[in-house]
Amino acid sequence: MIIAIDGPAAAGKGTLAQNLAKHFHYAFLDTGRLYRAVGYAVLQAGKDPSDESAATREAKSFDPKSINKILSNPALRDEATGNAASKVAVIPAVRSALLDLQRNFAKEPFFEDGTPAKGAVLDGRDIGTVVCPDADVKFFVTASAEVRADRRFKELQEANKPADYDTILKDIKERDERDSNRATAPLKPAEDAYVLDTSHLNAVQVFQAALDHIAVNHE
Ligand code: C5P
Repeated sequence: MIIAIDGPAAAGKGTLAQNLAKHFHYAFLDTGRLYRAVGYAVLQAGKDPSDESAATREAKSFDPKSINKILSNPALRDEATGNAASKVAVIPAVRSALLDLQRNFAKEPFFEDGTPAKGAVLDGRDIGTVVCPDADVKFFVTASAEVRADRRFKELQEANKPADYDTILKDIKERDERDSNRATAPLKPAEDAYVLDTSHLNAVQVFQAALDHIAVNHE
């Protein structure tokens, strides 16, 4: 069983993905973290995330065995890393270097401790369209840019991190624009995806709507 969840930044797809993975006892892969790890590695090397050869080199150097360790770096959550991620994500060679890794995980999912799982939840931008076009269930989780910026703003405030709403909104819009208009695997709902607009829903309501959809259509 594969559940694909796509959508723009801060729409609530990560929370939904984790809730579904826990509920069904499936393994979870946040594919944005893969792109973030590449963006982070490029920045650490002192290179520009739009530099094709630097980004491709980093993407190809990932060892699938140490992926959990790489993805658990807290620095991957920073806004600067998110922006770098969306720049490396435009590069087709970076995307293809990460494709097998994601497909292998979907085919043979495993938990963080390495034990196999009977299903997988993957979240990202192109899971339902490119990575797992045959996924059993597909969600496209979205919300207005203003609501998403507000959520990010509050998250940062709660974590006592510097936060400026206007800058966050500008970054979110730029990232949407880049993710939606790139030539390779742009952000868009798969034709058979169930679109969940979370602008006026909290995390519990989003989870319930997703469970209802699965119960009616897939059980
Ligand atoms: O979801 P998250 O904000 O962590 O993703 C960071 C960036 O990685 C996105 O803005 C997007 O450009 C890229 N990404 C992607 N395809 C995915 C997941 C993330 O292009 N499947």
